[in-house]
Amino acid sequence: MIAPALPAELKAALDGKLQGFSRSDAAQRSQKISTTYRAGGGSGTIKSDADALAYALARMPATYAAVAASLNALTGIAPDLAPETLLDVGAGPGTASWAAAEALPSLQDFTLLDANPTLSRLALELTRGSTRLAECRYLPGDAGVNLAEVAQADLVIASYLIGELSEADQRTLTEAMWAKARHALLVIEPGTPAGYGRILALRRQLIAQGAYVAAPCPHEKPCPLIAPDWCHFSQRLPRSQAHRQIKGAEVPFEDERFIYVALTRAPPKSRAARVLAPPDLGKAEITAKLCMDGGVALTKVPRRDRAAYADARRWRWGDAILSDS
Ligand SMILES: C[S@@+](CC[C@H](N)C(=O)[O-])C[C@H]1O[C@@H](n2cnc3c(N)ncnc32)[C@H](O)[C@@H]1O
Repeated sequence: MIAPALPAELKAALDGKLQGFSRSDAAQRSQKISTTYRAGGGSGTIKSDADALAYALARMPATYAAVAASLNALTGIAPDLAPETLLDVGAGPGTASWAAAEALPSLQDFTLLDANPTLSRLALELTRGSTRLAECRYLPGDAGVNLAEVAQADLVIASYLIGELSEADQRTLTEAMWAKARHALLVIEPGTPAGYGRILALRRQLIAQGAYVAAPCPHEKPCPLIAPDWCHFSQRLPRSQAHRQIKGAEVPFEDERFIYVALTRAPPKSRAARVLAPPDLGKAEITAKLCMDGGVALTKVPRRDRAAYADARRWRWGDAILSDS
């Protein structure tokens, strides 16, 4: 399990870039970027080095935390997964590669691909002082065009990317990313109903091609949730002083809502129920919303069953519950 906070080398690299960079300018730029993003404009508004840095300072801690939590879920279900090569599609400032380097010591070779040259430049500058990523390769250009030319990788990650594409492009890219994934594909999106919808479509498309779901679902059946319910998770992360200033925030933490799917070529050796919401700790019992092989159920664990109750007290939203735990 890796922590949700940025690793020390990345934090130091970002802090170094902050020297001489006005925080109010960064705050304004990141506000403009997130307004465009919410209006459906994606990250296309990131045009200058200052924009790229403002984006990284404001968003990298949260997207890193979401990727870290998703990788923890994947490695929890597939502990034998030992990828040596990574392909980070829509890598932006390199967030997912940093998280993967932390979570998977087996990784030796990192390829980052992105259409935005400004973000790519920043990613390369940030990785310069990294023990693991200094030798990474950065491929410029549109993934829809370039992926065909790229070598397969043991693990492919697309973090906060597919929401920037049209539905047709999402389908094409899904196909292309799966073709490049030798062992596993991990896709992460914002934890909104729309992000969930995109993950569901990708999950459906690749199960039809023989993919297995390692996490979060304990099965390959259709998602049992019924709208307006949607599957998502939440990861708390610390906010540094600079991060607080840039986001105009008071509290020293942030909760990032996200959704992900981790697909593998081999069937997972174990299956685990997934906690879909914060469990309710009542006086007489704990009630937890669990996604299981048979569907979603509100599971009740009575206090009188002391051992089970003690276990259930440790359950957190997003956790995997193995049947013997
Ligand atoms: C929201 S950012 C996420 C960056 C990074 N993966 C993260 O999680 O922090 C989306 C990234 O996808 C890239 N992108 C969008 N469409 C792309 C495409 N068709 N080909 C390659 N990169 C693309 C953008 O340039 C941007 O860097």
